[in-house]
Amino acid sequence: MNWLAGSLSGVPVQRSQKHLGDVRRLFAAGLASPLADKTLLYSVEWFGTAAPGVEGALLFGCTRLEPGKVGDEYFMTHGHFHANPTRAEIYFCASGSGLLLLMDRSGRTWSEPMSPGSVHSIDGRHAHRVVNIGDVPLIFWASWPADAGYDYDSILRGGFGLRVVERNGAPVLIDSPNLQEAE
Ligand code: NI
Repeated sequence: MNWLAGSLSGVPVQRSQKHLGDVRRLFAAGLASPLADKTLLYSVEWFGTAAPGVEGALLFGCTRLEPGKVGDEYFMTHGHFHANPTRAEIYFCASGSGLLLLMDRSGRTWSEPMSPGSVHSIDGRHAHRVVNIGDVPLIFWASWPADAGYDYDSILRGGFGLRVVERNGAPVLIDSPNLQEAE
């Protein structure tokens, strides 16, 4: 693993990319934004000792989240709950500056700052999303059980309870008006 570049080699690496066109509606100003659908938001590389879904196995990988904003809202990952709430996850920040948003099933949302060397223990019951609040790529590693599963639909419906936007050149957390749709 190249810790700082956010890349894996020497094993069968899975790769995926998320572009604005895939997640436009997650951003408050996404549909109105003039940014092109092909704008790259983040890239993921991951590897597992077994296939996804296998009990007892671990997957691990890295996300490179690009810097930028949609309107005044910083680039962020889609975010998800784990389908199995007993499956925790751990994040390790390698480079850049970000916020980890965490949310319980009632919509209560809070954040942890991410910086090089920060480690984040994520309870399996809590949705997690990462926001890049810097001007360079945010690179973080993660490891999670192969049978954690993903619930993206809850996030598509209701979002998180907080959004991270730029105000006077600095990131601030604001309440999300979409929250009630998660109930
Ligand atoms: Ni996860």
